[in-house]
Amino acid sequence: MQKRTVLRLLLGTGLALGLATHVGAADTKPFKIGFILPMTGQSASTGRQIEAAVKLYMAQNGSTVAGRKIELIVKDDAGVADSTRRIAQELVVNDKVDVLAGFGLTPLAAAAAPIATQSKTPMVITAAATSSLTEASPYIVRTSFTLPQAAVSIAEWAPKNKIKKVVTMVADYAPGIDAERTFKDRFTLNGGQIIAELRSPLRAPDFAPFLQRARDASPDAIFVFLPSGQGAAFMKQFAERGLDKAGIKLIGTGDITDDDQLNDMGDVALGVVTSQHYSAAHPSPANKKFVEAFQAANKFRPNFMAVAGYDGMRVIYKAVESTKGQAANGDALLEAMKGQIFESPRGPVLIDGQTRDIVQDIYIRRVERQNGQLWNIEFDVQKSVKDPGKKK
Ligand code: PHB
Repeated sequence: MQKRTVLRLLLGTGLALGLATHVGAADTKPFKIGFILPMTGQSASTGRQIEAAVKLYMAQNGSTVAGRKIELIVKDDAGVADSTRRIAQELVVNDKVDVLAGFGLTPLAAAAAPIATQSKTPMVITAAATSSLTEASPYIVRTSFTLPQAAVSIAEWAPKNKIKKVVTMVADYAPGIDAERTFKDRFTLNGGQIIAELRSPLRAPDFAPFLQRARDASPDAIFVFLPSGQGAAFMKQFAERGLDKAGIKLIGTGDITDDDQLNDMGDVALGVVTSQHYSAAHPSPANKKFVEAFQAANKFRPNFMAVAGYDGMRVIYKAVESTKGQAANGDALLEAMKGQIFESPRGPVLIDGQTRDIVQDIYIRRVERQNGQLWNIEFDVQKSVKDPGKKK
């Protein structure tokens, strides 16, 4: 009699356990994040930086959030828009990812945007930086930056620092045009003069002819935007063409003194002033912790792409957490991404609920050698900068 009761109890418990496991299984299907990155090709450093930061974030914060196992999928689009589109389609249809993320260049993000819209999948841009991209889909959230956001501060700084005549040189595609227009508008408003506007091809660029033309124009400075990965090659040719010896200063957005390559650029980079949202030398405790952990795991320095990847994961993790892992669809998840405020290794940031773009501090930095290494040393800051490139 007693035995039977025990048996019944055990069976009952077993049944209850079984049920619980069953319900649990439905709840705990993995939460899938599909990163599409250029892991090969001209922009491979962007992919390498973002993947390393994403893995660091997961190592530090665990791979279970609100009871959901986080499954990371990383796909290489080699920087080719047709591949980005195909991979985004496969990730949504076959893998049924909950979030798309990454996007190393503007044309790659633009190619995936319609898929995010059609499938109602949040799309977290952790690299591409053309202002208008957030309007390509209502499902886009951005944790990187925009070129207008970065370029305004250097356009304000230059005319106050004996730079009156400038030649602009930008990569000939959307973020380059954004940088050129923003710099020109603000610089001329402050009394500066643009004496030539040059655009170099995005693919396989040879900067020599542009540098020659810039040199011949004898400006006080050349303002440059090139996408991450091209800075070192540019800097080498800048020195080879003798622009530094001719007393022509180099200014730009921080993409040209990218922390991924800066330390190998040599003396030609010393004194270059840029404005941007992230320096590996940013002197906050949060950044020191981030840089130390990143370098211990990777043996290379994080750049502005890495910090955007790291923060992109933060935005996704918190959205899963605040929806208790139960977001029934992409819309609920997207809502939970909007309005997030947190301290990034770059400083305080906000995901603007209206624009879905990032609001952040922009620093003015000068390349200096400290402890035998080259760093972007911040010496001024503009607080809480919204992307000024958005249509009003
Ligand atoms: C872009 O294509 O939007 C892009 C890529 C790299 C950068 C900045 C912008 O450093």
